[in-house]
Amino acid sequence: MAIIAPSLLSANFLKLAEDCKMLDESQADWFHLDIMDGTFVPNISFGPMMVEFIRETTSKFCDVHLMITAPEKYAEVFKNAGANSLTVHIEACTHLHRNIQQIKNLGMKAGVAINPHTPVDSLKDIIADIDLVCVMSVNPGFGGQSFIEHTYKKIKQLSQLIKENNSSAKIEVDGGVTLKNAKAIIDAGADVLVAGNTVFSSADPIATIAELKAI
Ligand code: DX5
Ligand code: ZN
Repeated sequence: MAIIAPSLLSANFLKLAEDCKMLDESQADWFHLDIMDGTFVPNISFGPMMVEFIRETTSKFCDVHLMITAPEKYAEVFKNAGANSLTVHIEACTHLHRNIQQIKNLGMKAGVAINPHTPVDSLKDIIADIDLVCVMSVNPGFGGQSFIEHTYKKIKQLSQLIKENNSSAKIEVDGGVTLKNAKAIIDAGADVLVAGNTVFSSADPIATIAELKAI
């Protein structure tokens, strides 16, 4: 059974308390929180203050996805805001190993996200040190985009890399996950499914989350 991590990026921010309560009461395992800085990605979402408010609504695992440059400047702030894991983009980190050490030293799980064009191989010297790989199945920046089919191949390559290195990293797939493709994504080797639009544009988000969970 996969870990289901709805992304609040697709929630109605004016009704955030209601949406957080809904997720808290649903079968969602994690809250996926997308942080965008308008520089690394062409969109701005929300920052640590929002994470702090969201944290108060749930005791579930808060999986914070940083789509920002210089994430080292904010690691401690997000820890203090209540993040359980911090995922940084390989494309944004010149000193990725240092970033991972910093996140772990702060007592959080450490993740690395890779954009659609970034080869899985680029993780080979860090895979043993991380808890999560976030495989971007869309170009980051916006919810509601279509799943890039090449991702299946990357998930399989990543499963192999994890095995070869005795890594305990989980494979998270982020972007364009639907009720239609979720099974194929899990079959390819994903452990965690992020879902924004699929959950929040649904007439019955609680039921949709249950359906994803049952796959
Ligand atoms: C994209 C974000 C995703 C996004 C997923 O930049 O990292 O987490 O919210 O949204 P959907 O599921 O709608 O593609
Ligand atoms: Zn995300």
